[in-house]
Amino acid sequence: MTIRPPTKPENVWYGEWKRLAPQWPAIQIPEMKFPLFAFAAASFCAVSVANAEDSPIDPEVMKLGQQNFATCMACHGADGKGLKAGPMLMAPTIVGSKLLLAEDPSVPITILLRGIAKEDAKYAGMMAPLGGALDDEKLAAILTYARNTFGNSASAITAEQVAKIRKENEGKTAMLKRSELEAMLPKEGEKAEAPAAE
Ligand code: HEC
Repeated sequence: MTIRPPTKPENVWYGEWKRLAPQWPAIQIPEMKFPLFAFAAASFCAVSVANAEDSPIDPEVMKLGQQNFATCMACHGADGKGLKAGPMLMAPTIVGSKLLLAEDPSVPITILLRGIAKEDAKYAGMMAPLGGALDDEKLAAILTYARNTFGNSASAITAEQVAKIRKENEGKTAMLKRSELEAMLPKEGEKAEAPAAE
């Protein structure tokens, strides 16, 4: 008796598709339209996010944030673009930073509380944990300010949000790797695809 391997179902489907596709061009059209649709969905999302961020930010919070941003200026510079240290920069720009502007506030909060482990010598400075030096209100104000100045625009961050993340990170002293932080961000295109799946 000869045992033949079963035909893979996807091969059957693919064969069928190839057989039908040339005679039935409609099958291919949705595929061609998809990028256009994804682009439209992404633009729609961008507009809704922008509207959500239009909610007014307390000027008192911005003031407290600006005063306390002095701590960050030593490395990120007065303009947020990174202070020059000879041919190097002390720190990267935070203008347009995905980590700072993440929709999930726990990303930038975690950076301030835990710091970023130094893995390369690109920058002269180091993003040390700052949670010990600054209380929840000040950290929230600094982030709200940084997220809404230098041309940045993102939602405000509250002291309650900082307190929650501080609690979650209690006892964790190791600095986070950049890759760990980046893994907290939504995957590329996730937002654009979400409405298409509905
Ligand atoms: C002693 C220098 C120093 C100070 C002070 C400092 N940072 Fe940093 N910061 C760095 C360095 C260096 C990096 C880059 C770390 C890496 O990726 O290796 C960084 C990275 C960051 C990032 C991630 C940016 C990105 O997209 O890569 C944010 C956000 C940030 N810092 C915010 C702040 C804020 C807000 C303050 C003030 C409360 C602050 N930092 C104070 C040195 C500093």
